[in-house]
Amino acid sequence: MTSGAPSFLWDPHSPAWLENPYPYYARLRNTDPIHAAQTGEWIVTRYSDVSRLLKDRRFLLGNKREWVSRRADYFHERGHDFSALSVAICSFPLFLNGAQHNRVRRLIGLAWRNRDVEGLIRNNVARLLVPLSGAETFDIVARFTDLLPELAICGILGIPEARYPVIRESIHTIGRFTALYVSLKELVEIGDSIRAALAAITEIVQDRRQRPDDGLLSRLIVCNEEEGIHLPESDLVSLCIFLLSAATLTSRSTLSSGIYNLIKHPEQEGKLRREPALIDSAVEELLRYDSALQFAGREADENCEIGGVEFKKGSQVTLCLGAANRDPAAFPEPDRLDLARSPNRHVAFGLGSHRCFGDWLGRIQAQIAISELLRRTRSIDVAEQPLRNRDLGLRGFESLPVSVRWVEHG
Ligand code: HEM
Repeated sequence: MTSGAPSFLWDPHSPAWLENPYPYYARLRNTDPIHAAQTGEWIVTRYSDVSRLLKDRRFLLGNKREWVSRRADYFHERGHDFSALSVAICSFPLFLNGAQHNRVRRLIGLAWRNRDVEGLIRNNVARLLVPLSGAETFDIVARFTDLLPELAICGILGIPEARYPVIRESIHTIGRFTALYVSLKELVEIGDSIRAALAAITEIVQDRRQRPDDGLLSRLIVCNEEEGIHLPESDLVSLCIFLLSAATLTSRSTLSSGIYNLIKHPEQEGKLRREPALIDSAVEELLRYDSALQFAGREADENCEIGGVEFKKGSQVTLCLGAANRDPAAFPEPDRLDLARSPNRHVAFGLGSHRCFGDWLGRIQAQIAISELLRRTRSIDVAEQPLRNRDLGLRGFESLPVSVRWVEHG
């Protein structure tokens, strides 16, 4: 084994995995598709097993929430206060199961009927790209892909722009929660920095209660009362924090990875420039090829047997969405980026009862952003070494310096 190469079958923190996990996933899929990792959990990499387990109601979510509340009690007397964090995550759909999960999901469904977002997103894209046109090199993450999803979800919820900085900070913090493993030290830092966001969003919720507008936040408050759901206010605040985070973190990563992968496949980028109508299937393929959420965590709720493996109640399971999306049993030539791929039944949005609620928004945003970027430019290249996210769980870039040739009057 060469130095620096991962020494375990499952080594998601090694630099080689962070750079390119796909050969390692292939090794797992081929040799040990339900792998007992040295970290204690099961790692599932085949498309068939991942899809089956995502839909299997014997596998639940929620372990991070319980983990936080157990530590909140234990460390309270030792001077660490996790109360802000416990409140902030109490109503995260991805930490809930059964009736509690249905209740929150139903509320989002009732309140969020309006999918007329195209105008908003087109305006947001123009707002970010117009000031950039003419700039030869810039970090497309800092100037475009990190900002666009935040503008969309804040606009949809009806969050005042003056509050965006505090929201951005909290989303960044929550992003660290998507890491596969969260240490106590990180938890303390996350808990501390989430307090300001909690205060800001509580204030906005209270304000919308007094002065409703036509934003999603006001709709959530109204539906919560009128439809008899009656989530307490702290749960509404938590749900709002989740929607902001879920919409932003994943979409940012999808956009930065998507742009990077287009640059790295010039023949595919050229094809999309020549055939803009390919954008829908192009976005599906970019989602499959380098999925933003690489893992979905579950816990076995009872003893059961899957694929010849005995899962004991309480076993932790990591479903590798990124590995499933490169499984040759489901996708011919899975390591080839083919923007016209069809069919393309990827699991980048998950499956089953926790399937992504905002897939339609993630899709339309990526479609408009990428189409407009290509329409307004002649070429885009990587200008300097990009910096990947430090955790493989959320695959995207912290910075992606690009050099761009713009179309005149684009
Ligand atoms: C391209 C962007 C996106 C990707 C790749 C993505 C991916 C995912 C995935 C894989 C899950 C399921 C995780 C699991 O089963 O453990 C999920 C759940 C979720 N996503 Fe997305 N998402 C995206 C955009 C959005 C947007 C824009 C929203 C809007 C608020 C959103 C809201 C949600 C919600 C509410 C859930 C939880 C569903 C539940 O637990 O019932 N997502 N997302």
